[in-house]
Amino acid sequence: MTEQTAVETEARTDRPVVDFDHNAEEHAKDPVASYRRLRSEGPVVWTESWGGYWVLSGYDAIFDAARDDEMFSSARSPHGGEGQAILIPKRPITEHFPIDLDPPASMPYRRIMNQLLTPSRVEEMRPMVEKYTALFIDDIIESGEADFATLTGIPSIITIDWLSLPVEDWRRYSFAHRKVLSAPLGSPEYIKVTEEELPALTEKVKEVIAERRRNPGDDPISFILGHEIGGRPITEEEVLNMVDLIISGGVGTVASLSGQALEWLSAHPDVRQRLIDNPDLMQNAVEEFLRFFSPTQALARTVGQDADFHGVKVRKGDRALLAWSSGNRDAAGGFDNPDEVDIERMPNRHMAFGVGSHRCAGSHLGRLMARTILTQVLERMPDYKVDHANVVRYPRQGVNTGFDRLPATFTPGKRLLGERL
Ligand code: HEM
Repeated sequence: MTEQTAVETEARTDRPVVDFDHNAEEHAKDPVASYRRLRSEGPVVWTESWGGYWVLSGYDAIFDAARDDEMFSSARSPHGGEGQAILIPKRPITEHFPIDLDPPASMPYRRIMNQLLTPSRVEEMRPMVEKYTALFIDDIIESGEADFATLTGIPSIITIDWLSLPVEDWRRYSFAHRKVLSAPLGSPEYIKVTEEELPALTEKVKEVIAERRRNPGDDPISFILGHEIGGRPITEEEVLNMVDLIISGGVGTVASLSGQALEWLSAHPDVRQRLIDNPDLMQNAVEEFLRFFSPTQALARTVGQDADFHGVKVRKGDRALLAWSSGNRDAAGGFDNPDEVDIERMPNRHMAFGVGSHRCAGSHLGRLMARTILTQVLERMPDYKVDHANVVRYPRQGVNTGFDRLPATFTPGKRLLGERL
């Protein structure tokens, strides 16, 4: 044995090794129980799956890692390997800015993102968010039964229309961005979406960016195009890096949050009635649903230097999974009875939007969309019942949780708007 491999082997025996794979169907059956088991083994443990990675499941460890970009980098380079480093395994897709960069390189892109998604700009989107939500409900309300999984199209159409991409393509974005997160890795469906559909959609986005360069308008893409990076105009490639991230950031997450909250409220009619009687509780309830369901379950980093970290020795180049969802169920985060939903929980320092320099740039919009969907469903279908026995969850729930099917029945109602989807 060479000296090098002897050191490797010695170091590896140091690691608390667990049998764990966040992409496995076994984990998808009950991610909450799976992370509870991990937390009982330690806040930071090692699994040999996917070439090996640390799993950070304790609140404090996740918090500290997410706030230290040098130690826990989200950048693709200089750590080598193809593809997006915030995923395990890495996914070879279009680069995403700012998430695929560390500060300070990420900062100019993040500043633009922040300006695009301020609370006041998001507030300007409210009429559009309300209109599309009403149209989706119009589409099903007369029938008395529906697959609530179709409501997952709402964030897609809002995002595509807001970005002023061809709105008729919203179903393609909705489908592709859900499947890429939920279809089993390597399945024919996954391969078709990653190798054909997403690249085809990316080409369309590129065309719109080039067109906006020639004819700027009053839309987010033109807004981004009007900025400089380090004193030179932003390139079309960089705009694509940002727009592609906005689409993938907003579409699946809001769908997951609202679907899970609707399913849970059907099973807890007392809480549902409280929300119907006191709509002012919705804002706080959405924060609790964010904590409890953690739509983005876990994202990865690459270790930037050798160090002692929360009782283990991490090494430069190691991969690490930050399980926001697990932190959100850890009492160490200051949550009393973390496995219970308390729609009036306060304080609620959840990590559903991440922590640190990459904390969700779209949180205000995500909240607005989720609140609008839940509020309108409760107003217009207050007696809906989910057919819990026939609910179908995503087969893979390591990155996003959610439903492929969410059948429900309700007393039929009337359409509100003249238009149709
Ligand atoms: C319930 C809804 C949402 C959830 C749970 C969620 C979750 C997250 C999380 C956990 C991160 C941190 C990623 C990391 O540190 O590795 C993140 C980042 C991000 N999200 Fe969201 N998100 C939501 C909605 C949205 C929406 C609606 C948009 C876009 C309009 C969006 C855009 C982004 C962007 C651009 C980033 C990257 C920020 C950066 O790298 O600086 N998200 N999101």
